[in-house]
Amino acid sequence: MFTSIAPRYDLLNHVLSFNIDRLWWWRTARQFDAILRRPDARVLDLCCGTGDMTFALSRRAPSKAQILGADFSHAMLQRAAAKTKTAEKGSAATPRWIEADALRLPFPDGHFHLVTSAFGFRNLADYNAGLHEIARVLAPGGECGILDFGEPGGVIGKCYRIYFKKVLPAVGTIISGVRGPYAYLPASVERFPAPNEMLERMRQAGFGESSWTPYTFGIAGLYRGVKRA
Ligand SMILES: C[S@@+](CC[C@H](N)C(=O)[O-])C[C@H]1O[C@@H](n2cnc3c(N)ncnc32)[C@H](O)[C@@H]1O
Repeated sequence: MFTSIAPRYDLLNHVLSFNIDRLWWWRTARQFDAILRRPDARVLDLCCGTGDMTFALSRRAPSKAQILGADFSHAMLQRAAAKTKTAEKGSAATPRWIEADALRLPFPDGHFHLVTSAFGFRNLADYNAGLHEIARVLAPGGECGILDFGEPGGVIGKCYRIYFKKVLPAVGTIISGVRGPYAYLPASVERFPAPNEMLERMRQAGFGESSWTPYTFGIAGLYRGVKRA
């Protein structure tokens, strides 16, 4: 499914979110500056797609930091790699890309200081297994940041649901030329646990100091947790 929308993925992201996606990636990356500034930082961005979250992280990290984007769609990663070639070269870290399943990561225990995922975790077939795999590859004291969609309440929530369930799937289908993925999006958000349940799952997977910060009225939000020693 993701491979089928890869050619128009970036365009659709920016159009359908009115460019607020860039703000969400930037806000998320900023939360982890204490880790990203370390020259020895090892950072994994899971379900990286075409790499925008990964680039937001790498821009804040020194050149010696290791920033890795992982995804199981080859077509998505090809686009991420192409963007790396045209990205500005400066003192920031250059991301590298790896094709991998988030539920079976090819990394040893305790390898990373930070694991993030933007709008990818929700798609996993097994959320608990995903959290345990993130906890496995994190060093004790390492941090996890999961940015994903939420369901805002009140009047804003009502208006947003009309947009999300009717307008977005229609526009997404027209621009991508693929029927299905953009209808799947609202269904996947409904299936995703509410913040309290997600925080409980994080605690059970071995994360302390778990928190959820809503972004833009709760349309999106950032889950954070620290791997317990
Ligand atoms: C909605 S896109 C998000 C991409 C990017 N992080 C962003 O913020 O735009 C979800 C991505 O998750 C990837 N994905 C879904 N399940 C995965 C899994 N089990 N392992 C690795 N990647 C996965 C898809 O291939 C897709 O590129």
